[in-house]
Amino acid sequence: NIDEAWVRTVPKAEVHVHLDGCIDREELMRLAGKYGVPLRRPAEQLFDFDGLTEFLQFLDWGASLVRTADDAASVAYRFAQRQAASGIRYTDVIINPTHWEAWRGNIAGLVDALDAGWREAEQDGLPSTGLCLSLLRQQSAAEADELLDWMLERDHPRVVALSIDGDEAVAGRVSARFADTFRRAASRGIYRTVHAGESSGPEGVRDAIDLLMADRIDHGFRAIEEPALVAEIADRGIPLGICPGSNVALGFTESRAAHPVEELRQAGVRISLNTDDGTALGSILDQEYAATARAFGWQRDDLLAIARTSIESAFCDDDRRSALL
Ligand code: ADE
Ligand code: ZN
Repeated sequence: NIDEAWVRTVPKAEVHVHLDGCIDREELMRLAGKYGVPLRRPAEQLFDFDGLTEFLQFLDWGASLVRTADDAASVAYRFAQRQAASGIRYTDVIINPTHWEAWRGNIAGLVDALDAGWREAEQDGLPSTGLCLSLLRQQSAAEADELLDWMLERDHPRVVALSIDGDEAVAGRVSARFADTFRRAASRGIYRTVHAGESSGPEGVRDAIDLLMADRIDHGFRAIEEPALVAEIADRGIPLGICPGSNVALGFTESRAAHPVEELRQAGVRISLNTDDGTALGSILDQEYAATARAFGWQRDDLLAIARTSIESAFCDDDRRSALL
């Protein structure tokens, strides 16, 4: 039988989680107080959202409260503490710099400040973290190039991947705009992870693979609507970072039991389980594993296989991966 205590003992990585959505309530209230910024809602309703569009606006609000290097290091350190509490051994975490208003034009400062928090965490025995830098779907090709140029020039050891996220229903089918940048990233050995098949249909997943050369798809569950695409994802072994709790919380799936994750798994697709935006969406990884297992009648072996996929699909170096497997 499966409970959270057992899940916590299973070696696993989390590979689809946004730091932007992982600033906890206490920290948000502390920062809002420090800067005299009114809460956007009463504290107990801070995390009530009416879908993805409003949720992304909340991320702008929350991340804009992180203004100094100490603020950012604190957010990073507290994140590592929560990852440890779910028994996570390694995390690929996403930040989307467009949400972090105080750091506009200073990506180097933000990455260094977060890095300091994670280095302290690692020294304290907390799990280590790789950083994926994300574009918003609405951004321009020039902005995408600028982010990649910075990544290549700085070659920061904390930064592991180029990412793209945001609301595809608002931005439209725009992957072609980013194709040159993502191809250049691939040619320079930079990993790519792409949000698709959440607020877009299977065509978004198709574009993520064909145009953005995605090493991993964030969400991707709407691939289920196109059987040939599911077969291709399974054949090519492209992992999907599935987040059932997030999909329910933001209204993309009706319930956990109605999530296509089981059908995808049965079709041979490699899947991991993740929280997406842990504190903001109320998702905790040990609970995600346990609740999803209960919804589909999975046994321990099924969760062990999923945890293994999470480690295999992480963008950590091979030494760390071998140590975790
Ligand atoms: N950024 C943070 N969470 C996201 C989600 N669920 N979809 C798209 N972009 C996001
Ligand atoms: Zn996400």
